[in-house]
Amino acid sequence: MKRRIIVSISLAVVLMLGIFALSQSSISFPGMNKSHLGQESPQPKDMRSPSPMMMGHHGGSQALKDSTGTNELNLPPILESDRIDGENIYYTIEAQKGQTEIFEGVQTATLGYNGNFLGPVIPLKKGQKAHFTLKNNLDEETTFHWHGLVIDGDGDGGPHEVIEAGEEKEISFDVIQDRATLWFHPHPLGKTAKQVYEGLAGLIYIEDEIEDPYEYGVNDFPLIVQDRLFTEDQQLDYRYALHPDGTVGDTTLINGTVNPKLTVQREKVCLRLLNGSNKRDYTFALSNGASFELIASDGGLLNEPIEKEKIKLTPAERAEIIVDFSDVEEAVSLVDEEGTVLMPFQIEGEKQDKKLKELTPINKVEITEEEKKLDVTKEIVLSGHGHHVTINGKKYDPDRIDLTQSLGETEVWEVYNEKDRMGGMMHPFHIHGTQFKVISINGETPPKHLQGYKDTIDLNPGDRAKLAVTFEKPGVYMYHCHILEHEENGMMGQVKVE
Ligand code: C2O
Ligand code: CU
Ligand code: CU
Repeated sequence: MKRRIIVSISLAVVLMLGIFALSQSSISFPGMNKSHLGQESPQPKDMRSPSPMMMGHHGGSQALKDSTGTNELNLPPILESDRIDGENIYYTIEAQKGQTEIFEGVQTATLGYNGNFLGPVIPLKKGQKAHFTLKNNLDEETTFHWHGLVIDGDGDGGPHEVIEAGEEKEISFDVIQDRATLWFHPHPLGKTAKQVYEGLAGLIYIEDEIEDPYEYGVNDFPLIVQDRLFTEDQQLDYRYALHPDGTVGDTTLINGTVNPKLTVQREKVCLRLLNGSNKRDYTFALSNGASFELIASDGGLLNEPIEKEKIKLTPAERAEIIVDFSDVEEAVSLVDEEGTVLMPFQIEGEKQDKKLKELTPINKVEITEEEKKLDVTKEIVLSGHGHHVTINGKKYDPDRIDLTQSLGETEVWEVYNEKDRMGGMMHPFHIHGTQFKVISINGETPPKHLQGYKDTIDLNPGDRAKLAVTFEKPGVYMYHCHILEHEENGMMGQVKVE
């Protein structure tokens, strides 16, 4: 009897110590929500009080709400060029502030490119010379970063390429990539996460000589998927939502649409998915359990379509999937792994018997025999949580070049996500200005969906990836964790290519 009491007392002590330890750390565990009130980011005075349900919930983890399917999905406009002169194409992109009716009858303060919220799709063709006028109409500095684009360091829009409020800048570059879905977003030091959160993000469609059988807005739909946490008056207050380990929300917006649904015809549809969230991973699936074809990853088409039932995208990753609605009779939605409805489909019309050509790349992606023999010449160690994140034990310093690499030369980067005492956490690792190939993960050939060109790769604690990295343009490029708050907290380095 006495023994039992002692055992339970010591158990209780151990438990209490454990809870105390957890409450002292700034790490959030799934299922355990902890407010960081009064710690890193004090709430604004006029704190828009969260509902009791939400008290202490903003921060590291947030359960997602189902989409009710009330609103038809917004389709970003395709950007019109200012002019075309032979191979030269001219565009103007303007970052601006706006008001958006995300929720019926409510104006939400947002940011956008050439509009109030998010940005247009910029179409580019391989072989073109692109010229951009970049305007900053915000109240603060910004940059224009082309995520996944092969472009000179000078035009890449990293934290060095600041455009002050009210200023503009011109850049030009040759489009040398094959068909791909890329994106653009701001990258100013200390303001990236906030500006993206408030709405600055858009897509780039690169086309090449392959004829694309899918038509924009008909059976080719971009899906910019982002979770957000709205205040009680339905505003996007970054400071309210901010968490040092990555800001998450309970509401998924797709192309800025809350509670989206997508009307499709009874045919094959290409969905171009971008996880544009600050931190949240999404694992996309169909609610009827049907498989789809994965045809492209970050940097373009896969050598051949892969049949999949789900696809995980960490922040900044893209995937193009073909969903066949021809014979679907039941209700079907795009869901995440837990079954949360992200977007119901409304399927209409008669079964279409379009024979659509399979999309495969002109230039196959392969790891050459030579590349297989290369030794590791760059070692990258990702570690930490919250404010304590580092790459190779260091925090970002704009005045320090961490690595150098020769133009056109392929080197093997070994990227290791170090486990720590707390177990570590997933970090999506991204390199600017290039598309790399994954040679191996933990010594194994990567799964098929990682065998295409990538610019961002998700690494779980303990994972070690070997990447074949080649830069085709010179300049200083960033590499970093794409959890935007980790990037802000210094989880970024610079490679100089010359
Ligand atoms: Cu999406 Cu530094 O990039
Ligand atoms: Cu990038
Ligand atoms: Cu990280």
